[in-house]
Amino acid sequence: MRTRRAYRIPIEWDAIRATDLSNIRDDARQAHGLASYDPALVNTASCTSAITFIDGDRGVLRYRGYPIEQLPGRVRFLDVAYLLIHGELPGGIEARDWAAAVSSGADLPGAITSMVAGFPAEAHPMGVLLAAWSALGAYREASKAVDDPTVRAAEVPRFLGSIAALVGLVVRHRTGRPLASPAASKADYSTRFYRELFPAEAPPDPVLADALDTLLIIQADHEQNCSTNAVRAVGSSRVDPYSAIAAGIAALYGPLHGGANEAVVRMLHQIGTVDRVPPYIESVKRSERKLMGFGHRVYKSYDPRAKIIKATMERVFDVTGTSPLLDVALAIEAIALEDAYFIDRKLYPNVDFYSGLVYEAMGLPIDTYTTIFAAARMAGWVAHWLEGIQDPEQKITRPRQVYVGRDARDLGR
Ligand code: SDX
Repeated sequence: MRTRRAYRIPIEWDAIRATDLSNIRDDARQAHGLASYDPALVNTASCTSAITFIDGDRGVLRYRGYPIEQLPGRVRFLDVAYLLIHGELPGGIEARDWAAAVSSGADLPGAITSMVAGFPAEAHPMGVLLAAWSALGAYREASKAVDDPTVRAAEVPRFLGSIAALVGLVVRHRTGRPLASPAASKADYSTRFYRELFPAEAPPDPVLADALDTLLIIQADHEQNCSTNAVRAVGSSRVDPYSAIAAGIAALYGPLHGGANEAVVRMLHQIGTVDRVPPYIESVKRSERKLMGFGHRVYKSYDPRAKIIKATMERVFDVTGTSPLLDVALAIEAIALEDAYFIDRKLYPNVDFYSGLVYEAMGLPIDTYTTIFAAARMAGWVAHWLEGIQDPEQKITRPRQVYVGRDARDLGR
């Protein structure tokens, strides 16, 4: 507009290439061509991806084309992980080989167990997981050969075996249980993971093991969320995948992201009773606090995963007994879905609003919930890391900035 010159920029995939803007240089003062300014990348596509599709207005979530509603109960998490990573569900032999390769990652170096044991019992499990996962990479030097397809094929399944074993170890340390991993069993991944978390003698109730499998499936991937974006950005430097994924664990730890499941249950305990919900909601509307577990950057309608978790929660409560906090959660949802503040801002329950109640019913300590989310999201992080490092268009991530600092000045004598 400032020079009244017209520019023709092609539109591809409902987007323009930001680099096409850099050819527009129509003011002598410009240090570089035009750039797009998009703090937090709210409206910027950072890559092409074939893994997950979300339509936030319609509440649609698909993994490699399959609607999320069709997967829990019909496909187990480990096969969903294969689907996200390889693009198709595994056949019989593929599934058998995949499960064997994944379980080979469960053997953790003794030094990692000692490292976890060295943390204070009350250390936050996400901080312990972040440290232990990064340290594990130092024992998996072969994974540095990120451009070798043979190495990638050997390393990738191990990430899923390792994260389940590591989360189990971290949770057992947090709950004062023996650190030794429970005896290997022929059970499927989610049942074995359940045993890692709760190494009781008796096998877990199938309803609870199935509920964990469902939670792992629906939290496995979510396209370019904060933690996956972090994995892709760090992975673009061609660092080893353990370090790239450590960035994802760190991002997921945040209360605005995966840490919200813990924050929701703390909020529900703080509110305590249904009669204290209205004043709490009013304090949210006065911007004194956020309603944790509500709102989403992409979903401007009910998060389809929240619906699935709510149904799963009811099956879990049939086994464990209902949570006293359920009425508080339901009251929050009922009020918020009718209140103009939330309706106008399109704030609905997200994946984290009910998941914490399921984890609490299973007997997990409140600060361990996000470690389960990390175990699930490992599938998505790995899928996106692989897609990113094999994408010929993905150079090292290095965004521009708008400089608003001081002009040149002289230090003087
Ligand atoms: C996850 O991206 C993903 O896909 C993430 C995830 C995944 O699977 O990877 O889905 C997992 O992280 C789910 C989100 C979990 N986080 C929470 O539940 C924390 C509470 N939610 C908010 O912090 C917030 O809704 C975010 C962070 C989730 C989204 O924030 P945005 O998109 O940056 O929205 P915004 O902050 O610009 O809010 C827009 C308006 C603002 O009001 P106004 O300034 O316009 O008056 O909505 C308000 C906000 O104040 N708002 C909220 C609110 N969320 C947004 N007000 C009260 N409570 C909230 N939770």
